[in-house]
Amino acid sequence: MKTIISKITPNEAENEQIYEQAGNILKSGGLVAFPTETVYGLGADALDVEASAKIYAAKGRPSDNPLIVHIADLDALDVLSQDVNPWALKLAAAFWPGPLTMILKKKDIVPDTITGGLRTVAIRMPSHPVAARLIRTSGIFIAAPSANISGKPSPTKAEHVIHDMDGRIDMIIADDTVDIGVESTIVDLSEQVPVILRPGFITREMLSGVVGEVRIDPAIMGSLKEGTVPKAPGMKYKHYAPDAQLVIVEGTPERVIDRINSLSVQKMTAGFRVGVMAAEESCRLYHADVIKAVGSRNDEAGVAHNLYAALRSFDAQGVQYIYSESFSTDNVGRAVMNRLIKAAGHTIIKA
Ligand code: TXA
Ligand code: MG
Repeated sequence: MKTIISKITPNEAENEQIYEQAGNILKSGGLVAFPTETVYGLGADALDVEASAKIYAAKGRPSDNPLIVHIADLDALDVLSQDVNPWALKLAAAFWPGPLTMILKKKDIVPDTITGGLRTVAIRMPSHPVAARLIRTSGIFIAAPSANISGKPSPTKAEHVIHDMDGRIDMIIADDTVDIGVESTIVDLSEQVPVILRPGFITREMLSGVVGEVRIDPAIMGSLKEGTVPKAPGMKYKHYAPDAQLVIVEGTPERVIDRINSLSVQKMTAGFRVGVMAAEESCRLYHADVIKAVGSRNDEAGVAHNLYAALRSFDAQGVQYIYSESFSTDNVGRAVMNRLIKAAGHTIIKA
């Protein structure tokens, strides 16, 4: 399949054509990747069973892993959900459009194929202008997972989408203004108490400021006991992972630096290519083939923004082992560490 790649530019006449073409592809059952404020999404008509099935094929995604439905207007809530409760309305007023996904009881109109057979549906109203305009001009609800091959780091740049999806989907809308860098916060509103199933830019504190008590799915931070099953089906798979073997090293800065350097030198001596992922403050202190600074230690948002691009760049440079510092879990940092721990397949060394 030939993939059309179109870049958003300041030329409004050209952009109008891009949205029209992308809308037509979506309405006729095709796949279009587009930027959002969190990561790039891979979109299809959410209510078209055959179209959404193509998403699973293009990504190599397990069919029991449900998709998020992207909307542009609040009216859509009542079309998709049979129980738009007061929590949903309050959270929508506070955080939509934006990086928050709500799980609500679904209506029959939502096909089982996109909910993995669950009785709930995940709904998000993105704030990114390209995403919002695409949903509006196409006039449909867009089911969209992150636009990566299943298991790989989510794409935050058009080049990542092209790397994973060129030849597999109909169109890619390129616009490298993806800001946040990690996927939306998912909150389940279908139970007795709101529960965070996936951390993101919208934190527990921000949510509970609006709806009171909010729990966190115990499966989230990865320090789970054997047998804990995450409620968001997608959170149980190895995810966000580079091809290289990723290891997180935790401890005081001095010990972490010493430990990473000794591991790195060991592997380099054995003939492997080694990468180190670190904060700006310490990256000069490492010995490795490839060293990536992901942002300042005190700037969780900066680390979130750079995380997936950094993981992908190690693969692009043929690294076989990556040693990473661990980062702050304040604010969006909780989401960063959640993704990093999963990307490492829970391999954490205490220095
Ligand atoms: O920021 C985002 O949310 C991005 C952009 C493109 O909007 N999308 C995204 O989609 O991250 P995806 O498919 O990569 O992740 C969706 C997650 C999966 O872990 C899935 O299991 C969970 O949402 N999910 C979807 N529907 C659900 C439901 N009804 N109940 C529980 N979890 C659900
Ligand atoms: Mg994903």
